[in-house]
Amino acid sequence: MKPQFITLDGIDGAGKSTNLAVIKAWFERRGLPVLFTREPGGTVLGEALREILLNPATKAGLRAETLMMFAARMQHIEDVILPALSDGIHVVSDRFTDATFAYQGGGRGMPSEDIEILEHWVQGGLRPDLTLLLDVPLEVSMARIGQTREKDRFEQEQADFFMRVRSVYLDRAAACPERYAIIDSNRSLDEVRNSIEKVLDRHFGC
Ligand code: TMP
Repeated sequence: MKPQFITLDGIDGAGKSTNLAVIKAWFERRGLPVLFTREPGGTVLGEALREILLNPATKAGLRAETLMMFAARMQHIEDVILPALSDGIHVVSDRFTDATFAYQGGGRGMPSEDIEILEHWVQGGLRPDLTLLLDVPLEVSMARIGQTREKDRFEQEQADFFMRVRSVYLDRAAACPERYAIIDSNRSLDEVRNSIEKVLDRHFGC
């Protein structure tokens, strides 16, 4: 099997951090070579842009914000994702372009055709082989964000923003069921872990 590019995505508060640990443990048990990374971030430039993008003091228009996401992504692809894949290492990215469609597109109203142009320009044909979409109802997301001590620039948004973000994620997953696995993350940790492990087992043919 060729090295796989796997992404984990979902609205804030959907439980990405907890479930990344589940994915890490799965790869460790199988003894498969894997690199974990994140967006925005994953490179020196990407992490610097992340600081700017998440800082509540940053004033950025929608196009500037979207371009910064893709600038970080371009560097991430060139320096991290493609080299790992070509060395035979699976890559798991905590967020990728689905987040741009969901947040800048759904949340903030950037037309999806504009995002598609940048997606094509930056990524060429690179798309995730599998996207695990963690999904929780809006109230759960909002309650979990509410527990965060210092909210970042995105977490400070209101419920209607996250409602639009969630609905874009779900629409994208529904339109392409062969690439996405929707994980209902509003269940016990054990149940969610089982679902994720099953998806990975199936994807890797274990
Ligand atoms: P997180 O990695 O802790 O979830 O924080 C990243 C934040 O950045 C999150 O609120 C989603 C947001 N984001 C976008 O708005 N667009 C993007 O393309 C990406 C990758 C993240």
